[in-house]
Parts: sequence; structure tokens; C-alpha cells
Amino acid sequence: MSITKKILLNESDLPDMYYNIQADMPNPTLPPLHPGTKQPIGPEDLAALFPMELIKQEVSQERYIGIPEEVRNVYKLYRPTPMFRASNLEKVLDTPAKIYYKYEGVSPTGSHKPNTAIAQAYYNKMEGVKALITETGAGQWGSALSFACQQFDLGCEVYMVKISYDQKPYRKIMMNTFGAQVYSSPSDRTNSGRKILAEDPNSPGSLGIAISEAVEMAATTEGTNYALGSVLNHVLMHQTVIGQEAIKQLEMTGDFPDIIIAPFGGGSNFAGIAFPFLRYNLKEGKNIRCIAVEPASCPKLTKGEFRYDFGDAVGLTPLIPMYTLGHTFVPAPIHAGGLRYHGAGAIISQLLKDKIIEAVALQQIECFEAGVKFARAEGIIPAPEANHGIAQVIREAIKAKEEGVKKTILFNLCGHGYFDMSAYEDYFAGKLVDHELTDEQLYSELRKLQTPEAA
Ligand SMILES: Cc1ncc(COP(=O)(O)O)c(C=O)c1O
Repeated sequence: MSITKKILLNESDLPDMYYNIQADMPNPTLPPLHPGTKQPIGPEDLAALFPMELIKQEVSQERYIGIPEEVRNVYKLYRPTPMFRASNLEKVLDTPAKIYYKYEGVSPTGSHKPNTAIAQAYYNKMEGVKALITETGAGQWGSALSFACQQFDLGCEVYMVKISYDQKPYRKIMMNTFGAQVYSSPSDRTNSGRKILAEDPNSPGSLGIAISEAVEMAATTEGTNYALGSVLNHVLMHQTVIGQEAIKQLEMTGDFPDIIIAPFGGGSNFAGIAFPFLRYNLKEGKNIRCIAVEPASCPKLTKGEFRYDFGDAVGLTPLIPMYTLGHTFVPAPIHAGGLRYHGAGAIISQLLKDKIIEAVALQQIECFEAGVKFARAEGIIPAPEANHGIAQVIREAIKAKEEGVKKTILFNLCGHGYFDMSAYEDYFAGKLVDHELTDEQLYSELRKLQTPEAA
């Protein structure tokens, strides 16, 4: 039987609104707290880092927020993105499950990250900012922001986690091509970087450390703002263009998802695909399982604690109510650099606490096995982060076969892995290791936390 492989939308189908799940959550998120006073923060506390429009979006309870025409015009370079039926993978797995994936790797820099980078660059430009400063883990976010800043004629400075900086030299060149300056983090350019280097001159870096450097630089440099690629409410909201398109695409097939799966770093690609569908659960009584997949070496959702914690390693950001392993937790240097983050966004954390979403933690070797199986069947080499989602898809597809049930599974292929060949090289050379964390390794940083409980 012939099946439709690609499910494509027209440019006119590009969403014109972002979906804000805050309007539909049964329990609102707890307020972020000032890092010094521990009191709820107001807009003025964030004004040194973000433009007012993004601060408003961060706390907005409006269900839909319009996407500016200038932002939609840049989205048109790659959106709407294609959805594919992973029919070859279904055959390899011999599963009765139908597997669909939304492919965000077609963006100019190869992942979902431009969806928010473009919006953030635009709102900053509108408020007279001259340059943006950020961190990057896998290099995907830094590339996306470099590209977006170039589109709106803004400068861009990126602190790249040392291990990725060393593993992925061509990501740096890509950022340079889009006009950005890139520094290995921890660096000696900031107090935060110098503090970490004094404690551990060989620190592999972490997203938390790089965030500290970028925040410090942005707060102390005239005319610059900070931009974050995940975790914050407005960032997650910008990504909902993915799920809104996916709803239209699945409607074209006549299918509806039983399970939605995405890898999880700080929550943005998961939110992007899952939130618009979760509205059916929250408002129309549907029961789609939405599963976030994190690495076993950084299991904040499955083994972390729900409490207030800092978004960065040094304690410069507001305190956010989140599932965390402690902001000083430095994950093992696995190849999925974008998933090496100690915490999770406030919205995701609240949804998990309320059992509206699920989470699992997987080891990296299983994830690479899954990524290679997918590449051989479907012809796209996924980003190591995306491999985490694919491994869980394969688990669910095999389970459907064992139980003899027909399931429709949708996952977010959030990025390609064409700059991640050294990771695949290590995998084929048998150099990847799984990380079973002892309780001591998992909880030692959490025990040190003196941040407020999140009641
Ligand atoms: C390709 C890719 N997927 C996933 C992630 C994880 O981030 P998030 O959870 O915000 O989607 C990253 C982060 O850098 C990434 O580059």
C-alpha cells in the first residue's frame, strides 16, 4: 500500500500566533524570586537583560500572542517545516505503530533554535539594543542566535561550553560566518569564568557556567542584552510554531497522536511540539502521553528535586521553581551537549509535578544505536540530542508490537547531526560510555543548596 511520506504545508499555513500554555495550566507556575532578596521579582529586575516585550511575554496569561510580520518573514526561509512518516523505520522495527516526525533540521542552522532566536533578535532590535550575548552547549543555539542577529543587524557574542568548543570546531566557524564572536567557556573574560577556572583549571564547562558568563557580560556591557535558548517561558512559547504546524499536518493524514516524544535539555523543543497538543488534554479531555527524554547522566526530571534554584552555575539569575540537580552540578561530558543542563523550565517543572507530562532518562549508547538505526532507515543523521527522543520512540514502537496495539507516535527531530560527526566517530570506535551515577554523584550538589523550597 502506498503511503504519503512527506506531509507538507504551504507558506500561508505558517502560524501567526504563539500559543501560551500558561493560559490553560490547571496550576500556575510559582513566581521567580530575586537572587538576593528572595522576594518575587518584578519587570524592572529583568530589564538589565531583556527587552520589555519579552519580559511581558514571560508573565503573560494571554492564550495567543501575535507573531510580528518581520519575524514571520524570516521564518519563511525554512517554515513551515516538513513532517515525515517514518515508514522505513516502522518496517525495520516491524511495528504496528505509525511513526511521524516533525523535522526542524531544515532551518538555516540545523535545529529548532532559530524559532526563538529570530523572535528574540527582533524584539531586542525594536527596543534599540545593539548586540546580544549568549551561551551555547551543543553549538546549535549559538549558531541560531548568530544567524538571527545577522538578520536584524545586531552584534552577537557567544560563550561556548569548552567541551563542545573542542569537539565541534566547525560550529564555531559557522557562528563566525554569521558574524558572531565565540569564546570557550569557562573563559578568563568574566569574574564567573575566572572563579570556575580557579577551582578547576580543566573544567569541561557546562551550560550553567556559560550562562553565568553571558549574563555577567550582558549586565555589565552598555547597549547589550542577554538571550537564552531554552528554559524561560517566552522561549518555550516561541517554539510552539512547531506543534501548531504539526496539528495541521497530522489532520491531513487523518491520524491523531497517542504519544508525543522529544528530547529534553531545558524544555524548548519538547514544549514546541507538545504544548499545542497538550491543549487537547487540558481542554478537550484527550489523553495524549507527552514524554520528555533526558540523558541518564543528567536526570533532573526523573531524579532531581522540585525546588527553587538558579538558572546558572554561579547564582546570578533569578531563582526559578524547577526540577534540578543543583546549579553547581556539572554533568559528564556526553556528546549530547544541549542536554547537559542541571535544571528545567518552570512551566515544564509544574506540568511534570502535576503529572500532565512524563519523563524518562536514557543512556547515551542506546541513544546512538537508535540514531544510527534511524539514519540508515530514513536517511537523516540526527543530532545526538535528538537521538534521545528516537530511542524512546523505538522503545514505544516495540512495546506496541509486543502488546499488539496500534499506536500513533509523533516525535520532534529537533536537529540534524552533520556537525556532530566526532560523536558518531566515537560511537563507532566503541569509545562512548554510559554513566550510572551513584547517589553521592547525583545528590551531592543538591544537598549543598540553600535556595528556598518550592512549596
Ligand atoms: C538539537 C538540540 N536538541 C535539543 C536541545 C535541548 O534544548 P531544549 O530542551 O531547549 O530543546 C538542544 C540544545 O542545545 C539542541 O541543540
